[in-house]
Amino acid sequence: MSSKITVIGAGSVGSTIAYTLSNQNVASEIVLIDINKEKVEGEVMDIAQGTCFRDPISIVAGEYEDAKDSDIVIITSGIARKPGQTRIELTQTNVNILKSITPEIVKVAPHALYIIVSNPVDIMTYVFTKISGLPENQIIGSGTILDSARLRCGLSEHLNVAQNNIHAYVFGEHGDTSFIPWTGAYVSGVSLDEYYDIAKSMGKEVKEVDKDAMLEYVQKSGGQIIKRKGATFYAVSASVCKLCSILTSSSDSITTVSSMMHGEYGIDDVCLSTLTLVGPNGIQGKVPMRMNKKEIEQLHKSADALKEVIAQINL
Ligand code: LAC
Repeated sequence: MSSKITVIGAGSVGSTIAYTLSNQNVASEIVLIDINKEKVEGEVMDIAQGTCFRDPISIVAGEYEDAKDSDIVIITSGIARKPGQTRIELTQTNVNILKSITPEIVKVAPHALYIIVSNPVDIMTYVFTKISGLPENQIIGSGTILDSARLRCGLSEHLNVAQNNIHAYVFGEHGDTSFIPWTGAYVSGVSLDEYYDIAKSMGKEVKEVDKDAMLEYVQKSGGQIIKRKGATFYAVSASVCKLCSILTSSSDSITTVSSMMHGEYGIDDVCLSTLTLVGPNGIQGKVPMRMNKKEIEQLHKSADALKEVIAQINL
């Protein structure tokens, strides 16, 4: 555990990521950067003053130069989604912000693994891939790691089985065209469709999952939280910190993150999430999962929707 992690953007998401990292044994050094100096200094003071209750860690409010030798850089900058606003509406504003940050940070931390979190995350990951000049393995979009976490949470509550026994994923865009490839949904080693009878044979009252309602729960969670509290930041931060621990561990993991497609499932030149092997050397490749025809069509629909947005933005 001696990683240096830089977080760009000290808004709710960036600051909560820094705070969550400060509570976990993933980073020994955290640099938080924001154009709003007062805000970033305040956040760092608030986080640092709680760190005496853990192993020593350095956390500073810094400039781009302070990101030198970072193992991981997390980009969260951007205008947050307002109530009722879709992620896509944010696009050009946040693309412009990313375009101003990218050359500065890549210059000082050319070897870091980059986690792109800013929304719309698949578009931002695509733009960063195109403009950073970095090898693609170094670029990871947080993608649907959060949506898959929401799905596990929803299925775990429905089935009353621990979340770590639920293996089910959300694929595609982190947004309106995401979908659940139910073909790959398992409760431990048993497919979800087979699990109901097993649970019933043990006297458990388990209703079949309403698949449409579960997808709606996953897709609308971000909007529902924004409507209630103005922003989402805890679950996304937990997801990004999990990703940091994957990137600093000694083995690869398989999770749903956004990265450039190169013909997998017949899809090219767009970033979206499918099962991906990722580890200390970043993105290792997409892991092909068996899907039915309808699910593959849904993935294509998601890719097409993202490509339509890419075609409209000023790179
Ligand atoms: C969400 C935001 C982070 O889905 O996109 O919570």
